Amino acid sequence: MAPRFAPATETAVSLYLIEQDQLQSWLSDQPAPLQDWVATNDFTGGAGQALLVPASDGFAPIALAGYGTAAQRMRKRFTLAGAAEKLPKGCYQLQTGSPNVAQLDAEALSTECLGWLLSQYRFTRYKNAAPMAASLIAPAELDAPAVEALAAAEYLTRDLINTPAADMGPAQLEEVVQALAAEFEASIGVIGGADLLEANLPLIHTVGRAAEQTPRLIDMHWGSSGPKLTLVGKGVCFDTGGLNLKPGASMGLMKKDMGGAANVLGLARMIMAAGLPIQLRVLIPAVENSVSGNAFRPGDVLNSRKGLTVEINNTDAEGRLVLADALTLADEGEPDLVISMATLTGAARVAVGPDLAPFYTDHDADAAALTRSAGPQADPVWRMPFHAPYESMIEPGIADLDNAPSGGFAGSITAALFLRRFAGDSRYMHFDIYGWTPSAAPARPKGGTGQGCRALFAALPALLGL
Ligand code: BES
Ligand code: ZN
Ligand code: ZN
Repeated sequence: MAPRFAPATETAVSLYLIEQDQLQSWLSDQPAPLQDWVATNDFTGGAGQALLVPASDGFAPIALAGYGTAAQRMRKRFTLAGAAEKLPKGCYQLQTGSPNVAQLDAEALSTECLGWLLSQYRFTRYKNAAPMAASLIAPAELDAPAVEALAAAEYLTRDLINTPAADMGPAQLEEVVQALAAEFEASIGVIGGADLLEANLPLIHTVGRAAEQTPRLIDMHWGSSGPKLTLVGKGVCFDTGGLNLKPGASMGLMKKDMGGAANVLGLARMIMAAGLPIQLRVLIPAVENSVSGNAFRPGDVLNSRKGLTVEINNTDAEGRLVLADALTLADEGEPDLVISMATLTGAARVAVGPDLAPFYTDHDADAAALTRSAGPQADPVWRMPFHAPYESMIEPGIADLDNAPSGGFAGSITAALFLRRFAGDSRYMHFDIYGWTPSAAPARPKGGTGQGCRALFAALPALLGL
């Protein structure tokens, strides 16, 4: 369901967002019964607290939401969402201009209201879930359609990741991109099966050939003028590890191995919905890393589109292989910026955990622009190094490159260095994301999640000179 703010109604409950330090001054202007109610219910204005003050003689009902202190907010991403999830059924209208309530700048207000919509997300494909009780009327000063578009992008990303591989194989992922392209009048081309060999995309074919659904490269174009941005997303719809089979515990969540694709599609949706003046290209190698008699093997030496040979040390390091050919193709289009997103390594998860989106770039200004927009967007990122001295780790004896250096040092960095070899001269940024929220937090239910897309979207004017 599309995320929407509630239409204005006369029965809306006024909602006051109050910092902890403001509560006493705010209360001093209120009638005694209301003061008593707040005290009785232990409402202190702590971040994420919520309190409904029922109607009484001569008073309409109102609601309070705690905005806490700066230190409390540092420990969360979304504050209003925490309160929204606790409020009883009803339609709420934020009173942003009244005395002694939290003063949010435009960005903070937008992010807090976005959090409300993100809290309303439910994954209902297989089972109905009760909708959130409380809905929000967008404050008048908010660009509501823009916030709804950000939420719709995140909903798309979550739905794609949450859908199990049986219903989100390469073919269904292609259908989703076809539908997205149709919605925004983008053009789309797909190269699948043996045509991949014909088109010189051998690594995508090799990784995906053992699966029942044929591997494919999805190539979407949108926009006819402006700087060229190419997004490349890892679309491994299920990662068994291949012949280097993953143990059960590691395989359990691998429906999310198309999280990079789900994220770049979310970002593409933001860009297209906003009508940014750019030329967007989205490349998704969509495959299943499966096991069969024709699966690729450890020890095989594969050729790539770029002509570099790759020795397979581990068939579970498949993401960098499919991305390699896609990145070469991206580079051939001479874009102004290439961004890849991928659930590429377990090492990234160990290094920064599920909350931070680790990214690589050689351009300090790009890193600074991205980092600047991450905070206000509640979409934290962390820069990692393309550490050139580790290049030797990805150089084996009998081929140009090794897909899985032994030793296991700096696994996320060596994977990023591997990808950079294929991005050519393009200005390149790469995200090694986790794509999953393991335990629920306000506005972030357990399950598939976008990482870095809102930060990127907000940074695009700086990154592309718009
Ligand atoms: N899809 C996995 C990476 C992954 C695992 C991401 C768990 C998030 C959570 C990837 O294809 C993989 O298996 N990578 C290997 C590479 C290794 C064999 C060099 C890894 O990280 O262990
Ligand atoms: Zn793998
Ligand atoms: Zn993988």
